[in-house]
Amino acid sequence: MSKNKTELKTEFEPRIIAFVCQWCTYTGADLAGTSRIQYAPNVRIIKLPCTGRIDVHFILKAFEQGADGVIVSGCHPGDCHYTSGNYYARRRFEMFKNMMNFLGIDEKRLQFAWVSAAEGRKWGSLVDEVTNNVRALGPFDNYKSLKIF
Ligand code: FES
Repeated sequence: MSKNKTELKTEFEPRIIAFVCQWCTYTGADLAGTSRIQYAPNVRIIKLPCTGRIDVHFILKAFEQGADGVIVSGCHPGDCHYTSGNYYARRRFEMFKNMMNFLGIDEKRLQFAWVSAAEGRKWGSLVDEVTNNVRALGPFDNYKSLKIF
């Protein structure tokens, strides 16, 4: 019995959805690719105009549709191309974390970060870190209804 659990654990590959702003993190992820930086292939990127556009419904929908973890990342504070979108996002992050706790979703499954267009290596490290953290938590099946992968 425990052998089967071990086998399942080693087969599990986390599915990570990343909501990223088009100006900084998306470009940073692109830089990681063009620089041939190696990182976990577990992430699927959804581009937003700005992290100010992030909504808790996007995060919950990602979990519902098969994600095991979610990243939200954009321009560093002070660098938002729409002046203050990431300040609004930063305020929402605390609310999102509280809501995750309320809904019984381990908050380690949700990671917020700032990654600039010049930080391809940081993007790779972030994806590796989140993938490893979520892999340790195991699959998230509580809210899944459809598969997007
Ligand atoms: Fe990147 Fe606002 S444009 S966070």
